[in-house]
Amino acid sequence: MSDTLTGLDIRPLSDSLGAEIRGVDLSQPLDDATAAAIRDAWHEHIVLLFRDQDLSEDDQVAFAEKFGTVGTRSRPASRRPEGADYNASIMLVSNIKKDGEYIGSLPDGEMWFHHDMCYDPAPHKGTFLYAMELPSSGGNTLFANMYAAYDRLSDETKARLKGLTALQIYDFATREVVDISGDIAQYKHCVQPVTVTHPVTGRRALYVNPLITARIEDMPDDESRALLDELFGFTDDKSLVYEHEWRLGDVLMWDNWCSCHARTDFPASDRRMLRRCTIKGQPLHE
Ligand code: OGA
Ligand code: MN
Repeated sequence: MSDTLTGLDIRPLSDSLGAEIRGVDLSQPLDDATAAAIRDAWHEHIVLLFRDQDLSEDDQVAFAEKFGTVGTRSRPASRRPEGADYNASIMLVSNIKKDGEYIGSLPDGEMWFHHDMCYDPAPHKGTFLYAMELPSSGGNTLFANMYAAYDRLSDETKARLKGLTALQIYDFATREVVDISGDIAQYKHCVQPVTVTHPVTGRRALYVNPLITARIEDMPDDESRALLDELFGFTDDKSLVYEHEWRLGDVLMWDNWCSCHARTDFPASDRRMLRRCTIKGQPLHE
């Protein structure tokens, strides 16, 4: 399937979200027309895949810069693994160890569904991940379409969500939400609307997830828990999810305002390394 105006070859990856774009070498400078066509495809498909890429750090950052201002990492330097790569724009997602210390972040196994940086008042818009070393099995990344996660709710639930906000809080773990019964000041956190209007597409998306959303504000705990459990139903709805099986050289870019993602488990004895950067965002509103 070819976009006749730009020549982009765009192929949907699933019924829920995602498209592969073929025929673009991301290590080469992108002309503005191609970048604009990719941006449009991104807003339509939420997750874009480019296979068989060969990218240096600079290439990856230059590509991301076509879509916004490249972001810097959110984890404080004092909380990063020793020996990690300190280029502030680049983060390695890796379980590889050097001298006994992880060289990157998010090393191990399964990771629950989350929106990147929803605990920040101006969540980064997009994440760009490039596959450099992959395990023999697993370590797939799952993406959920959060427009569709909102659309599937009953009219009654949609009406109930109006005006609600939620506490988003994160401690850089992969399979547990922060215990908020104690002092939460030490954790990155903020309050966000439970649904957001995407600043570019104008479409409404559900903006809660099991890893980072700890409670609905101004609601008794049991009610908040029950509502969140209902909203988290999207994680089990296969019709909303695309599961990406990585190949070396894959680049995925995803929109954090209208999707969330998770990772499947993989053998701890296998090496996995992906190179990541983001582009900055803005405050989100209902
Ligand atoms: C991330 C992330 C998932 C993965 O980089 O933000 O969630 O598959 N990565 O490693
Ligand atoms: Mn993530």
